[in-house]
Order: sequence, then C-alpha cells, then structure tokens
Amino acid sequence: MTDIRNIVVLTGAGISAESGLATFRGPDGLWEGHRVEDVATPEAFARDPVLVHRFYDARRANLKTVAPNQAHAALARLDAAWPGDLLIVTQNVDDLHERAGATRVLHMHGELRSAWCRGCDARSRWEADLGHHPLCPRCGTGGGLRPDIVWFGEMPYEMDRIDRALMDADLFVSIGTSGNVYPAAGFVQTARYVGARTLEMNLEPSLGSTHFHESRIGNAGALVPAWVDEILAPTP
Ligand code: APR
Repeated sequence: MTDIRNIVVLTGAGISAESGLATFRGPDGLWEGHRVEDVATPEAFARDPVLVHRFYDARRANLKTVAPNQAHAALARLDAAWPGDLLIVTQNVDDLHERAGATRVLHMHGELRSAWCRGCDARSRWEADLGHHPLCPRCGTGGGLRPDIVWFGEMPYEMDRIDRALMDADLFVSIGTSGNVYPAAGFVQTARYVGARTLEMNLEPSLGSTHFHESRIGNAGALVPAWVDEILAPTP
C-alpha cells in the first residue's frame, strides 16, 4: 500500500454495537426506547431537561459496563503503527476508541465523559451524573452544565480540521455508520472529489454506499482487523 499515506477513518454507532452499545436506527426506529428528537435536540433539553439528563446520565454510567471490541483494538493498532497521517473521526460519544489505545481520535459529536458549562463555556471531564445540577468546576455556577453532546441542529466539532484531513486524504474508510446524518454522510463525496480511495465496512450497505469504491458487508469486529492486517502488511 505504498501509494497511501494519509488516512481518514469515520466511525459510527455500528463499531460499538459488538461492545453492547445500541445503535441509533434499529429496526423499530427507537433509540434506547426514545425517539431521537425527544432526547437529542436543544429544544428537547429546554423542554424537558430532567428526561434528557436522565437519558445521558444512564448512557454515561453504562460506559462502565462495556469494553472496546476487536474493531476498536484494530484501529488502535493502526494508530500506533501507521507512519503517515491518520485521523479517526468518530460520531460516537462513547470512549471506546481511546480505551482501546487510539490517540488520533476526534469526537465530532461530542463525548459522554465531558460536561459543557453554558455559563463560562468551559468543558470539564465528567464521570458522574449531571441531572442533580452539579457546580461547574471552572466557574462554580450551578445548573449550567449540559452534556457535551452535539445535538441535532447544532454544529459538529472541529469541522475545519476534518475538512483539512479529508482534503489531504489518500484513503477514506467509513465503519459502522448508516449514512443518515450530515455532514459526516457527505465525507465520502469530499474524499472522492480529492481523488482518495474510499472503502466502507458496515453490516448492510449504507445510504451512501454507491459513493464508495468498495463496500465490505459484515461485522466490524471481523472486517476491521482483517483490513488493518491488509494495510499494515509489508508490500512485496
Ligand atoms: N458492524 C458493522 N456495522 C454495524 C454493526 C456491526 N456489528 N451493527 C450495526 N451496524 C451498522 C448498521 O447496519 C447501521 O448501518 O451500523 C450502522 C449504525 O447506524 P446508526 O444507528 O444510524 O448510527 P450512526 O450512523 O453512527 O448515526 C449517526 O446519528 O443520532 C445521530 O448523533 C447521532 O452520531 C449519531 C448519528
């Protein structure tokens, strides 16, 4: 793979499915029993902060019960070994990439283990619940902390950095994402535009499947380690 130097990997909920975390768009269209709009919009938070805090507090607590799977481990192996640029852009708010050992990770939709103070704008690492209106460790204000999650209608984080990485990419790889949510769903088109090779690995063809040069269909836990073996194999 001598022609590939810069890689952008996009991950979605499917990469964490085999760790036991629910994806967003299951067959019944519900997410942990809720419609996405009822728990993942600023309007939902303004209308019913108790429900929204309870929802994210439960998900944050649940992180302690799950572990990275083979797909996260394989990407961490790639991260440690890849000599060129690599950016793992994740839409996931779990911390399974980091717990597997990956370091070149960007959480474009925020993180469960982070709290954002609407009073002073500071972000603080957060392990406990937020629903009981704790004080912001930075400014001391009570009741201003919200989950550091990018909700529908809000701007994903670090889009400039992501765009720069895509513009330089030789290879774009999408793993475990349905292709429903923009801007992430459009990354493949940007990558194609700049001439990158594009590959998706997903349990089923994503909505944007036809944009990829190659689609591998199956479980991330099997497909991703095999792909990392391939790309790290010495060229003959
Ligand atoms: N291996 C690979 N892919 C899988 C696996 C698996 N074991 N299990 C499920 N999938 C696939 C599903 O087939 C589906 O196409 O993962 C995809 C998950 O899609 P979504 O549930 O829509 O999740 P995602 O694409 O990450 O959602 C994007 O939507 O609600 C928002 O902000 C939220 O970041 C999220 C965004």
